[in-house]
Amino acid sequence: MAWSRRKSADGPAAGRSPSPGARSGPSRLRIRRARPADAPALAAVRRAAVLDVPPGAFRRADLAAWASLPPLYDLWAMTAGGEAILAAERAGRVVGFAGLRAAELTALFVAPRAARRGVGAALIAAVERLARRRGLRRLSVVAAASAVPFYLARGFAGRRRARVPLPGGRSLAAVRLAKRLPVPGRRPAVPPSRA
Ligand SMILES: CC(C)(COP(=O)(O)OP(=O)(O)OC[C@H]1O[C@@H](n2cnc3c(N)ncnc32)[C@H](O)[C@@H]1OP(=O)(O)O)[C@@H](O)C(=O)NCCC(=O)NCCS
Repeated sequence: MAWSRRKSADGPAAGRSPSPGARSGPSRLRIRRARPADAPALAAVRRAAVLDVPPGAFRRADLAAWASLPPLYDLWAMTAGGEAILAAERAGRVVGFAGLRAAELTALFVAPRAARRGVGAALIAAVERLARRRGLRRLSVVAAASAVPFYLARGFAGRRRARVPLPGGRSLAAVRLAKRLPVPGRRPAVPPSRA
């Protein structure tokens, strides 16, 4: 599916942080672990991101169902659900988040006002680093169909179709993708010297 979302009004790539988690100014991106008190902000980011998905990608009622997931969903995910939620913050506001449970990327959302500025890519990179620190060699995601090109561009691959259940008995078309993670500290093998 072609990606047709508009660039952020703030300008393309402005404030993009090549090093997620680093910050050197008030408008720089900071990636940190989310706390239970962030649940309402996470739900607001998801709602805005989902309602900004380009028309035609999904049925309107499916998007409405997806957008309706309440803060309780995020609160549960980061507590009883055992997910590590990473929040991307700019100028003290949550502009995106991602989730990791076991070897699965469980969530990735960026608010429209911060879209197309590298926040999604920075969140994926941060989740991959966390996964590698946990000793994982592979990261999977059940990707919403509209986000598949984004993941393919970040090194994920796969074709198996899936449906993600949504409130009200609805569901979302998705694709199972996965990515091999590099082993930390391992350098490419050096061929033996011929001398
Ligand atoms: C998918 C999503 C997280 C991307 O976040 P983002 O911060 O806008 O993405 P980035 O700015 O990091 O994009 C990185 C690159 O991917 C491209 N890109 C972003 N979203 C894309 C998409 N859906 N399809 C194809 N390419 C995409 C950008 O153009 C950018 O490339 P560039 O640097 O060459 O311009 C965001 O669009 C979103 O929240 N979507 C709605 C919710 C969703 O579908 N989440 C995934 C659930 S599995």
